[in-house]
Amino acid sequence: MPAADFSAVPVIDLRSSPAATAAAIHQAATEVGFFYVTGHGVPDGVIADAYAQSAAFFALPAAAKLSVRIDRRHRGFIEIGEAKMYEAAQPDLKESFIFGLELPESDPDVVAGKPLMGPNRWPDRDLPALRPALTAYFEAVGALGQRVLARMAVALGLAEDFFAARYRKPLARGSIIYYPPQPPTAADARYGVSAHSDYGCITLLSQDATGGLEVRNRAGDWIAAPPRPDCFVVNIGDLLARWTNDRYASTPHRVVNRSGRARYSIALFYDPDVDTPIETLAGCLTPGQAPGYPPTTCGAYIAERFDRAFAYRRR
Ligand code: OGA
Ligand code: NI
Repeated sequence: MPAADFSAVPVIDLRSSPAATAAAIHQAATEVGFFYVTGHGVPDGVIADAYAQSAAFFALPAAAKLSVRIDRRHRGFIEIGEAKMYEAAQPDLKESFIFGLELPESDPDVVAGKPLMGPNRWPDRDLPALRPALTAYFEAVGALGQRVLARMAVALGLAEDFFAARYRKPLARGSIIYYPPQPPTAADARYGVSAHSDYGCITLLSQDATGGLEVRNRAGDWIAAPPRPDCFVVNIGDLLARWTNDRYASTPHRVVNRSGRARYSIALFYDPDVDTPIETLAGCLTPGQAPGYPPTTCGAYIAERFDRAFAYRRR
């Protein structure tokens, strides 16, 4: 394998052989924590519909958006000022709307009060087309997440379906995100998202043509991860870094919208079932090495991270 190029985020074609794909994903996850995937199989129409409905949602009057305001299960609209990354001076300059696996109140896990599980908060009266568009997106990009995780499992010495068996009713969450325009030359340019690492397992990100995503490489420099045609950006979150005893890298990244125009992106935080034990994977320890982290569960870990990042959870 060629030496890693730390100046750029690699592009991996999922139509390559399974073994070559697994090796490329493993190298990128280990050395960069970020990669693009192409040959991803998500229909163009599903992506286009999600963007069209996302633009329509953020253009709704504030009262309509606030009628589906974020709830304790982390579903719904998050207004500007609600999300602040640890250490950041100012809250993020973005609006978002979070959706996940649709479960009725009668679902046993919901009845049991499992964190972050339950029905979505769809604005069905104001924008009925949002629900079907984002539901289709959630399913198609979730399937892509399974493909990526299957290759990672093999590369980590696990059964190919290791992750699939842990994604029966996953905590996966989609987020449509709107970054408002800001003057491109403002001295006090605000971060759309200030520097952070993602909390969960893997994130699958679609961005519009605007640009603005930056990734911190190992040398500590911020490098651009621009939109590439027919690509999703995939990155490792803190939960998978912990699961792999930091063999996989959860890399800091940020967004600055210097375009002078609005920017839209769609993230899928593709996380496993709520009670999934997160204990160091055996293959990620060298003989005699002790795990660097005590065991936790997916749900406990994600909920704790949310408590620190989102103002609504402290009200
Ligand atoms: C995030 C994130 C990047 C983007 O939501 O965690 O890093 O381009 N988003 O919106
Ligand atoms: Ni992120």
